[in-house]
Amino acid sequence: IKTQVGIVGAGPSGLLLAQMLHLAGIDSVILESRPRSYIENRQRAGVLEHGVVRTLADCGVGARLAREGMVHEGIDIRFGETRHRLDVKALSGGQCVTVYPQHEIVKDLVAARLQTDRPLWFEARVTSLLDLETSRPRIRFEQDGETRELACDFVAGCDGFHGISRPAIPGGRIDSYGRDYPFAWLGILAEAAPASHEVIYAHHKRGFALQSMRSPTVSRLYLQCPVDDDVEQWSDDRIWSELHARFATHDGFRLNEGRIVQKSLTPMRSFVAAPMRHGRLMLAGDAAHIVPPTGAKGLNSAVGDVRVMAAALEAYYRHGDGDLLERYSEIALRRVWKTQRFAASLCTLLHRFHDEPRFHMRMQLAELEQIVEDPRAAELFARNYTGLPFDV
Ligand code: FAD
Ligand code: DHB
Repeated sequence: IKTQVGIVGAGPSGLLLAQMLHLAGIDSVILESRPRSYIENRQRAGVLEHGVVRTLADCGVGARLAREGMVHEGIDIRFGETRHRLDVKALSGGQCVTVYPQHEIVKDLVAARLQTDRPLWFEARVTSLLDLETSRPRIRFEQDGETRELACDFVAGCDGFHGISRPAIPGGRIDSYGRDYPFAWLGILAEAAPASHEVIYAHHKRGFALQSMRSPTVSRLYLQCPVDDDVEQWSDDRIWSELHARFATHDGFRLNEGRIVQKSLTPMRSFVAAPMRHGRLMLAGDAAHIVPPTGAKGLNSAVGDVRVMAAALEAYYRHGDGDLLERYSEIALRRVWKTQRFAASLCTLLHRFHDEPRFHMRMQLAELEQIVEDPRAAELFARNYTGLPFDV
């Protein structure tokens, strides 16, 4: 089998890239190790930057997002048991964010792909990438108990942090940067109306907590917990009592409780692999970088990469111009690093660090006060939160 671009992974990165390539008349095959039902139900990110919403609309996958997405003009930042509203729309010069779950984007992109009749193969696990330094790389994969190969011009490594693309780059040709944080997030989905119609970021001496939503009747809540905790240690009662404590304000705010339908733990990590290209392999999204989830940047950052990669491939196939391909990594990393900076600093600003509780917390409170008091600090926050401009 042959194609122009072989795409490893049908997460948001791989699916969006395939859609953009299709619109540019470029052929691709997507290989995904999991079944369709799995990727369409995996609970992950929720907040989309304004430019990401526009990108999805421009690619013809924005109709349901426009109908069902919840547009947010502000956020609630809590510290010292007091709420502060940041009008991120006004502060960023008119940019809003939209709450629309990642798995719904995945469903929309899968549906769009199936309509094109171009290949998207599920339960096709890529085992190795071959001849990446030649003009005819190959992707070896297993499907229905058989080993098969796909020959292509380029390989897009969109297979997430635990994929095989990044490790296919020989050691010495790629550097990695990052840190692991000494805490995790316990995330729950609850059948409870969100008590605030905007996302709440709560700094608290017991640890960070976040309230988001998935619909007017379903809340998505997260709380900081020790990194080696097990979900089993968190009974429903313990989760609610911890959430109530962390969201409490002097003016008597109270969360709505409801049946907890899902619980999961996410470790927190900052990570960047550079360069994001090796020969004919280009990495995008979590395959190349991870952010701690505090700033809601993981998915948004992936879209930045995909825009650059799709534009580079289009310039190559349409005009024979390989300049953008050469500079793919350099261009993508400029935005990636700014997003990393924002996500890491927000993570450090809002979580409790047990090894430095007293001094660190004073620094956090001083910075939080500056963000809510000084419009210039708030503007910078809002521009990052609602999304930096795309380079391409
Ligand atoms: P992925 O979504 O990871 O997609 C990669 C795909 O490749 C997967 O479908 C995988 O099955 C497939 N794959 C892997 N290996 C192979 C192989 N060998 N062969 C074929 N296919 C393969 N971001 C936020 O902004 N906010 C959040 O609250 C948030 N929560 C998260 C919670 C969890 C548990 C995780 C893991 C991530 C979370 N993120 C969050 C990050 C966000 O979801 C990611 O940044 C986003 O999914 C990146 O998309 P991607 O397509 O690059 O990678
Ligand atoms: C969500 C996740 C985040 O990391 C965040 O900062 C805001 C919202 C969410 O899952 O809805």
